[in-house]
Amino acid sequence: MIPDRNLALELVRVTETAALAAAPWVGRGEKDLADGAAVKAMRAMINTVDMSGVVVIGEGEKDQAPMLHNGEQVGNGDGPSCDVAVDPIDGTSLTAQGMNGAISVIALAPRGSMFDPQDSFYMNKIVTGLEAASVIDITKSVSENISRVAKAKSLNVTDITVVVLNRPRHKNLIEEIRNTGARIKLIQDGDVAAAIETARPDTGIDLLMGIGGTPEGVITAVAMICLGGAIQGQLHKDGITDPRVLTTSDLCNSEDVFLSATGITDGEIVQGIRHTKFGATSHSLVMRGKSKTVRLIRTEHNL
Ligand code: FBP
Repeated sequence: MIPDRNLALELVRVTETAALAAAPWVGRGEKDLADGAAVKAMRAMINTVDMSGVVVIGEGEKDQAPMLHNGEQVGNGDGPSCDVAVDPIDGTSLTAQGMNGAISVIALAPRGSMFDPQDSFYMNKIVTGLEAASVIDITKSVSENISRVAKAKSLNVTDITVVVLNRPRHKNLIEEIRNTGARIKLIQDGDVAAAIETARPDTGIDLLMGIGGTPEGVITAVAMICLGGAIQGQLHKDGITDPRVLTTSDLCNSEDVFLSATGITDGEIVQGIRHTKFGATSHSLVMRGKSKTVRLIRTEHNL
């Protein structure tokens, strides 16, 4: 029998290239130039991957940043038909400001299996890892969810840490979380890496809550399929949250998925690009849904 190809091992070259292209822009206050460099690099490398891909999640529309367009054909056309979700930089402002937590990420799933967000840019999300994946319920209160997660993890509520995007819209959420006694880690940007932290060991993060990007929600769903965690989302538009709940499988309806994320700046899940005498080193998290294999790949790039 011919073993299945692990396309994630090809995808890592795509996110490494994008992260390496973004790295010279770290801390230079030029988020569009950083994004433009990452998009250009990602576009060139993605077309070497053995797949017949269509971009379903092309980040950038929300803030008119450079992007890989939705509907764009990617890959060399030789492999399986895939839906492709890209975020050449999740955390463009983090990159521009030289702050932690920026990654380059790509996710692949069989054609037709990824949720198409269309013009829904925002999503209310709750995300957690394997241990508490079956107990979260976004329709229940914040305190109910936190106590369910604490119970599932055999922890006290005061031991739970919830990661939240630091936005004025989260004023009430932050208050509700603090009232339970749980801790909050506020982040400026980058809720894909933060969501992955909820499902990785030793990050000290148990839950992600609040409103972030819908494209990032779909990429998070692919990550949770690989890690055994769960996301629930509700589309959010013009200040109104749609009551319908999108589960992990609504956001990506297949286990046959691949994801690669490479650090641009340092973070909990991967270190950022380091420049060396010979070039640079990169760190990537590479995962496959079917086998649940998680690889941490450190690469030395001779530039
Ligand atoms: P970009 O890097 O594409 O700007 O996204 C950063 C990000 O923080 C995402 O991680 C998050 O989902 C979204 O923006 C939140 O949107 P907003 O900044 O509009 O609150």
